[in-house]
Amino acid sequence: MTSNAQKILVGVAWPYANGEKHIGQIAGAYLPPDIFARYQRMVGNDVLMVSGSDTHGTPVTLKADAEGATTAQVVDKYHELFVEGCVAMGLTFDLYTHTDTQNHWDVTQQMFLRHLEAGYIYQAVQQQLYDPQAKRFLADRYVEGTCPFCGYTEARGDQCDNCGRIYDALELKNPRSKITGNTDLEVRETEHFFLDMGKLNQPLLDWINTGKEHWRPNVINFTRGQLELKELRGRPITRDIDWGVTIPLAGYDDKRIYVWYDAVIGYLSAAVEWADLVGEADAWRAWWDAGVNPDALIYNFIGKDNIPFHTIIWPGMLIGYNAGKGDQLNLPYDVPANEYLNLGGGKFSTSRGRVIGFNTVLREFQPEAWRYVLTAMAPENADVEFTWQEFMERVNNELVANWGNLVNRVLGFAYKRFEGRVPVPGELDPLDQALLDEIRSGFTAVGELYGAVKLKAALTEARRLSQRVNQYLNEKAPWQAIKQDPAGAATSVYVALQAIDWLKLIWAPILPQSGEALHQMLGYDRPLFGRQYTERITDGRGSHLVLRYDHTPATGRWQAGSLLPGQAMREPVALFTKLDETILAEKVQAVA
Ligand code: MF3
Ligand code: ZN
Repeated sequence: MTSNAQKILVGVAWPYANGEKHIGQIAGAYLPPDIFARYQRMVGNDVLMVSGSDTHGTPVTLKADAEGATTAQVVDKYHELFVEGCVAMGLTFDLYTHTDTQNHWDVTQQMFLRHLEAGYIYQAVQQQLYDPQAKRFLADRYVEGTCPFCGYTEARGDQCDNCGRIYDALELKNPRSKITGNTDLEVRETEHFFLDMGKLNQPLLDWINTGKEHWRPNVINFTRGQLELKELRGRPITRDIDWGVTIPLAGYDDKRIYVWYDAVIGYLSAAVEWADLVGEADAWRAWWDAGVNPDALIYNFIGKDNIPFHTIIWPGMLIGYNAGKGDQLNLPYDVPANEYLNLGGGKFSTSRGRVIGFNTVLREFQPEAWRYVLTAMAPENADVEFTWQEFMERVNNELVANWGNLVNRVLGFAYKRFEGRVPVPGELDPLDQALLDEIRSGFTAVGELYGAVKLKAALTEARRLSQRVNQYLNEKAPWQAIKQDPAGAATSVYVALQAIDWLKLIWAPILPQSGEALHQMLGYDRPLFGRQYTERITDGRGSHLVLRYDHTPATGRWQAGSLLPGQAMREPVALFTKLDETILAEKVQAVA
């Protein structure tokens, strides 16, 4: 780490530990931050990429009910399943933890107390839906009904999946209990803690109206629209349930903190846990503490259903925290939310059996086929329809045909005809020079796109540059030229290899695994990237598995170095496998 490097916190949405995730979620929230983080590390910035499984709330307890398991069992099972997927997919979290840890509980309870003391949390009696058959208050997902804003009939108690608005369950029309199906619900009084969002409306509007030119239009428009209504009011942040972070005050043993209050605090608590693990308890402050480093940039990568929590509630919580006594925390710099990747004309839906599982596809296909296609199809500005047909075409016609075959034929030829070494070039002609100039300029052009989180455009530009090398080779045809003009052929093969060596880096944020393999074949000894590993941590709440990333062995830099003429190569092998159409016929059938 160099001290003048930019500190970049890459906060990734915390997936509920309630099932296998699907590729729509990977395309929306999990792959983009990894591409961005890898790029920023190559540039030399100090990245801290954190997230973890969201273990609390009704999404998890409902799953436990359904599986006849304990919540803790469900959490462990799906947390570990997701970690396994992250390793296979190469998602380089500096720390991926979960929210049922002693550290997360401590950080959450400290924030709760500071909000309370600063006057941003108050207590009030609230009306809540109660199911007399189940003898329970119906928190959040335990109740469904018609959305008060858009009329969607399967809206949940705390948020509508159709329009993304958040509200109080009491506002639902025709509410029904998820436990019993009962529609004859009572309204009972119960005492809760409220976050005073009313007080935060104007401060949030002031914040959103300054320096947000780089925000995506969908994110800024939704947020500004909500804040300009000036309708924010107190939001209950505790529930009558027995699963979640406890309230750090005496007398509330039968209530828990609402999952959406504690989960967003994870961005902070995970940085604190990371600092602890690296043995520098205050290291997290370089990203979070405005008194230590106000210039750190905090990015939150999420799917669009999470927008209000990350552009209104969480920044509001931070403003409320900063109004209290003590350290001041940085607010998010950017919230690059994605729209949805849809399937078969609608949203991915586990309950409707319309889903493509993350872990499932990683067992069936090379992970980089997914890294490539999910970036090429990224729903950055609008919903996108996933089809297996497009998946296959993009893998075979783009990833394999454009980039993979280019690498294979040049490395194969060089290895065979130049004694396993990078050939020594003669003088470069204008064609050689033009190619190298153009590929070199990719470090600026593609770099700007990665840096601006325009990942789909970055991919398109990388593909165009790769295609330029194919054109160059068609013109030079070294495979023919070698008979009459071996020196000329050596020069063009060298030039093509140099272009490939740079493209390896330009592609690396999207294609790190094949990039690493290619790097080895070109004869380098030290790795481009660092090392992912897992470990088990024991604390006051038990033990949890964490995924970590050790960046120190990485040598990949975002710059055009020079490939050493004469460097000994390693025997090339194909980077990607072409997909067989027959496998896909089945897939198409399965989702039709
Ligand atoms: N668990 C939530 C979801 O899957 C996301 C939480 S993001 C967090 O929708 F930051 F709040 F944790
Ligand atoms: Zn709605």
